[in-house]
Amino acid sequence: MSWNRFQTHNLVLPELDFALDYSRLHWPENFFADKQAAICQALSDMRALEAGAISNPDEKRMVGHYWLRAPELAPKPELSAEITACLEQIKNLAHRVHSGALAGAAGSFTDLLVIGIGGSALGPQFVSQALGGAGVSKMAVHFFDNTDPDGLDLVLGRLKGRLGRTLAVVISKSGGTPETRNGMLEAAAAWKAAGLSFAKHAIAVTGAASNLDKHAIAEGWLERFPMWDWVGGRTSELAAVGLLPAALEGLNISDMLAGAAAMDVATRVDDPRRNPAALLALAWYHATSGKGAKDMVILPYKDRLGLFSKYLQQLIMESLGKEFDLKGQVVNQGIAVYGNKGSTDQHAYVQQLREGVANFFATFIEVLEDRSGASIEVEPGTTSGDYLTGFLLGTRDALWEKGRESLTLTVRRADALTVGRLIALYERAVGLYASLVNINAYHQPGVEAGKKAAAGFLALNTKIQNHLNANVGQRFTVEELASRIGETSRSEIVYKLLEHLAANHGKRVHRNAGCGPFDATYGVR
Ligand code: PA5
Repeated sequence: MSWNRFQTHNLVLPELDFALDYSRLHWPENFFADKQAAICQALSDMRALEAGAISNPDEKRMVGHYWLRAPELAPKPELSAEITACLEQIKNLAHRVHSGALAGAAGSFTDLLVIGIGGSALGPQFVSQALGGAGVSKMAVHFFDNTDPDGLDLVLGRLKGRLGRTLAVVISKSGGTPETRNGMLEAAAAWKAAGLSFAKHAIAVTGAASNLDKHAIAEGWLERFPMWDWVGGRTSELAAVGLLPAALEGLNISDMLAGAAAMDVATRVDDPRRNPAALLALAWYHATSGKGAKDMVILPYKDRLGLFSKYLQQLIMESLGKEFDLKGQVVNQGIAVYGNKGSTDQHAYVQQLREGVANFFATFIEVLEDRSGASIEVEPGTTSGDYLTGFLLGTRDALWEKGRESLTLTVRRADALTVGRLIALYERAVGLYASLVNINAYHQPGVEAGKKAAAGFLALNTKIQNHLNANVGQRFTVEELASRIGETSRSEIVYKLLEHLAANHGKRVHRNAGCGPFDATYGVR
C-alpha cells in the first residue's frame, strides 16, 4: 500500500476519534463519478426520511430512529416530547433501582433478566458486552432470547435463589412474538414456583395496546415503556429497547446518544468522500457488485466488540435481504455478514480468507487504546496489545497481497461514545445502501412469514395430540395417523411432530419401535 494512496483513500474525523481507510479496495478509476448521481439520490432519500417521509412504504410508516438522539429533529413536536419523556422515565427508573427505592421481594435488585429476541435482544446484548464489566455494571445481566427450554433453564439456574432480587424487562415491539411470550410465561412460572409475584418484578417495553402491553396493565407490572411504530426492531438500540437495560446496568447512555448524534451529523454531509456512511455504502456496492456477490466479514480486534459482528449481521441481513425491490421486481438482494473477533478468528476461518475461496471482503475494526491501565511487557518493548495490532496489520496485509479487499475502521477506545457512533454509522450505511439498490430496508416480510409458518405446524401438533387423546389405547403408524386426521400430504411433518412428542411427553405419547425407522406406532395409553 503506497503512502499516497493510503492518505487519499482515508477519511479521518479527529473530532469523532474515527477513521475509515478504504484504500484496500480495488476501486475502478471512475467509480465515484459513476455513482455520484445514485449516492446523491440516496442522501436525498435519507433527508426525506429524517424529515418524516413514509420511508417504509409496505408498512406505511415513518422511519425515525435518528430522532432518538436528536429529539428536536422529529417532524412533530409531540414526537420530540415523547422521546424526551421516555428518556427521563428511563433515567428515573434506573435511579430508583440503583438507590434501592424500587426493590424486589427479597431486597434491592442485583440481577436483570432481559426477555426479547432479534432487534429486541441483539442490541442490548452487544452493548452489555461492550460496555459492562467489573466496577461498571451495577446489575448482572442475563438474557432469554429464544424459546429453547434448556436454554431458559440454564439462565434460570444462574438466577437460582435470587429471583426476589431480579428485575425482568420484557421487550417486544409487537408484543406478540412467540419466543418472547414463552420466555415471559416461563419466567412468570419460575417466579411463582419461588413463591414470588412476577408482576412485582416485571417491566414491559412494547407498543401501545399490544398484547404484552395489555397483559402488563392487567397484571399491574412495575412500569411500561413505549416502543413506537416508527422505530424498527433492529434500529431500536437507542430507544427504550436498548437504553433501558443499559441504564439499569449502569452504563453511560448519555454518551451513547451523544456519540450517535455526532456520527449522524458527520453522515449527513453531502460529499460522499467526506461522509463515512456514504463511503461504507459505496464500498459495499463496489465489493458486492450491488448484488451481494461477496460476503462481509466483520473483524473487530477487541473482545468487547465481539458481539458487534452478530449485531451487524441482523441489522444488515434483515434490512437488505429482500426478495423484491421498491418497484416490485424480484431482486433477491442482500449481503451475507459474519464474523466474531480478531485475533481469535485467525485460528479459525481466517485460514480460508487468506488462502481459500475469494468470496468476501473484510472490515477490520481497530481500537487504538489497549486497556485503561498500563500493560506489562510480554517481550522486551512489546505488550499483548502490540501483538493484537500486529495480528490485525498482518492479516490485512496478507489479504491485500492475495487481492482480497478490506476496509479498516479505526476508533480510539471501545467506550459508550464509540458504541453510539458505530451504531449510527451502520444504521445510516444500511439505509443508503438500500437506496442504492432500491429496496425497502425497514420491513421484514421474511421474519413475519417465519412466524406464520410456525403457527401452522403448532396447529398440526395440537391436531395430532387431540386425535391421540380421543383414541386412548390405540396405536397408529405415521401414515395411519396422517390419514385419520386428513393430513396425508404432510406425513413428513406428522412424523417429525410425533417423534418430538414421544421424546418429550413420554407419559402421554408413547412410541413403539417397528421393523424400520419409519414403521413405529404411536399412541396414548
Ligand atoms: O428487527 C426486527 O424487526 C425483528 O428482528 C424484531 O426485532 C424481532 O422479530 C422481535 O420482534 P418484537 O420486538 O416485535 O418482539
